[in-house]
Amino acid sequence: MVKINRRQFLNLSAAGAGIALFNNQLWQKTIASQPLPESSVNLAPSYQSSDGLLELDLKAKEHLINLGGQQAYLLTYNGQIPAPRLEAKPGDKVRLHFTNNLSQPTNLHYHGLHIPPTGNADNVFLHLNPGEKFTYEFEISQNQAAGTCWYHPHLHGLVAEQLFGGLAGLFIVRGELDKIPEIKAAKEEFLVLQDFALDEGGRRFSSMHMSLMMGREGDLIAVNGKINLSFYVPAQGLLRLRILNASPSRFYRLMLEHHSFYQIATDGNMLSEPIEIKELLLTPGQRADVLVKGDQEPGQYRLLNLPYDRGSMGMMGGRGMMGRRGMMGRNYRNEPVVLATLNYESTVESLTLPTKITSISALPEPQTVRRFELNHGMSPTVGMAFLINGQPYSGERLDTKVQLNTIEDWEIVNTGVMDHPFHIHVNPFQVMSRNGTPEPLLAWRDTVLVPRGETVRIRIRFRDFPGKTVYHCHILDHEDLGMMGNLMIDT
Ligand code: C2O
Ligand code: CU
Ligand code: CU
Repeated sequence: MVKINRRQFLNLSAAGAGIALFNNQLWQKTIASQPLPESSVNLAPSYQSSDGLLELDLKAKEHLINLGGQQAYLLTYNGQIPAPRLEAKPGDKVRLHFTNNLSQPTNLHYHGLHIPPTGNADNVFLHLNPGEKFTYEFEISQNQAAGTCWYHPHLHGLVAEQLFGGLAGLFIVRGELDKIPEIKAAKEEFLVLQDFALDEGGRRFSSMHMSLMMGREGDLIAVNGKINLSFYVPAQGLLRLRILNASPSRFYRLMLEHHSFYQIATDGNMLSEPIEIKELLLTPGQRADVLVKGDQEPGQYRLLNLPYDRGSMGMMGGRGMMGRRGMMGRNYRNEPVVLATLNYESTVESLTLPTKITSISALPEPQTVRRFELNHGMSPTVGMAFLINGQPYSGERLDTKVQLNTIEDWEIVNTGVMDHPFHIHVNPFQVMSRNGTPEPLLAWRDTVLVPRGETVRIRIRFRDFPGKTVYHCHILDHEDLGMMGNLMIDT
């Protein structure tokens, strides 16, 4: 094989040839400054339901955290980055005694949970003032898939800022997926990806307007609150990684040196069988469960975040399409970043992968087809804004009215210059086609990337729960700047 230097490697990977390099041992040492791995994969304490009840106190507050040896004043739940992991099963009751000790109003959203969008369940219209307490209470539906969900604040206008402060935690639904023998035998690790921007005193930067338009990103990337986290291949060789992108705007394009990912779940939903991938792209809000076989030479392998260009406001105006994917945005760093290090000491014979996970049936034909156009522009009311069908979000307006227990196709058209991950609350959906090409993979998701200039068609069933909720871009600055709509599910 040909030797390549660092510059050549970067050029190649920028051209999207990262995969070709996958088996090349020679670029092992090409990545510059790399902090020493931090030991311990351990997360904050987790809370499991018992006797059908998950009950806990959750306090949002600013807290001084040690983030990779640096002090950081972050926004936390219970003083922890990431927030405590919650675990429950279908049929369980959840009672969460929430206190807002932030200096701003906030609330909670349960991303991926199929629960009512009303009352004291997944109600993103609640406005909890500083000092206020509120008890969230709901039941995990029997129609809830087992999988990786999460919780985070959702008060329109403050969502990006509060997530960027650190407010996010996993909400794991246990069930069918965990009982599959091969998956059960694997060692489970949770990876929560977050980025932060701090000054020398560990204070959070307030973003400039331009980076808000882009979607704010921080240079400090933490996995489970650690910089270059260490994790280990277990004796039996099979690892199950459950990965969450909890960043407000940053996309992660993950690659583990010399290892494939075998994806078993998209967002909080099982796939029908494992899919081998070399790279895993996670937009904000998305999750993936993957298996990793520890079948390589013993050693250390880096989990890398490869560059991804999600478009830029710099392309606005008269210059036209300068190669749709060619131009670098402000936040586009043409350089892989080490997120974590996988270690193993001896050769192991890896356990086998499951061949079958579940069966997924395609949703029947829709009763209604709608179109949503994503773009940005000037709005007379709020100035520069992100728009859906030409309008920025308004709390007063009902944008979309659907009928409970019906099926709809939503055609989401991105006519702008930046990528937008589109997310719908309460019900998962299936991707039907991208730019008119039928989607080969049948899967349930709750967030789908709609790249700039492209069209994605999804199919959704509004099941079980009536009420008002939202859909939005999960680049949370875009959402805060208007790219959200109110959805009424009518009985
Ligand atoms: Cu995780 Cu409305 O979002
Ligand atoms: Cu959500
Ligand atoms: Cu967006």
